[in-house]
Amino acid sequence: MSAEAKRRVGQEVAGWVENGTVVGMGTGSTAAMAIRALGERIARENLQVQGVPTSFFSEQLARECGIPLTTLDSSPELDLAFDGADEVDPALNLIKGRGAAHTREKVVAAAARRFVVLVDDSKLVARLGTKMPVPVEVVPMGVTPILRRLTDLGATCKIRMGEKKDGPVVSDQGMWIVDARFDGIDDPEALARNISLMPGVVDHGLFLGLATDVLIGLPDGSVEHRRAG
Ligand code: A5P
Repeated sequence: MSAEAKRRVGQEVAGWVENGTVVGMGTGSTAAMAIRALGERIARENLQVQGVPTSFFSEQLARECGIPLTTLDSSPELDLAFDGADEVDPALNLIKGRGAAHTREKVVAAAARRFVVLVDDSKLVARLGTKMPVPVEVVPMGVTPILRRLTDLGATCKIRMGEKKDGPVVSDQGMWIVDARFDGIDDPEALARNISLMPGVVDHGLFLGLATDVLIGLPDGSVEHRRAG
């Protein structure tokens, strides 16, 4: 995804934020563009806006950008949340979690009246799971039975390993991530249910029926807006 497309969709959603509202802030390189653009708007227009971060990543960046932070304990219902995605299907169902933040991202997205997904057209797929694995956050002591259960569902699995850390990636919750590759998912709802039922699974990266809006940065410089339903 080009930096320019990310910047445009980030600017666009930052422009949708209204004064006096609480906003969920996603994780990743595209959400970062929106956080930066929101910080600039707050400073320029002296807006009274608070943000709920979805990770240590977005928390640190929002502080840097001067966005006042709050929590779901203080604001359990959010006006709007924005985030990137790894795949978007025609029904606006998603795979998320390349950055291992999908558990908190899903909590925040589900608390928002409007959940706006920011992508470029390389993230659009006809069927979920064709390009990306489904990240599954797991309790470390349960990983081996979970790997077996995911394999029984047809996945090829890998425990995600750190790049500048030896051993597994450890999430913001202190959990591990299993990347489960399905090479196309026929029934995302059934798969989501089955994974959620596995003991030791914290959450998975299938986001079904959550996105209300998708903003797509197109190669010609325009932004396409798709709405759910
Ligand atoms: C974080 O865990 C992910 O869900 C990201 O939101 C997703 O991978 C999109 O990231 P980019 O905007 O960096 O592509």
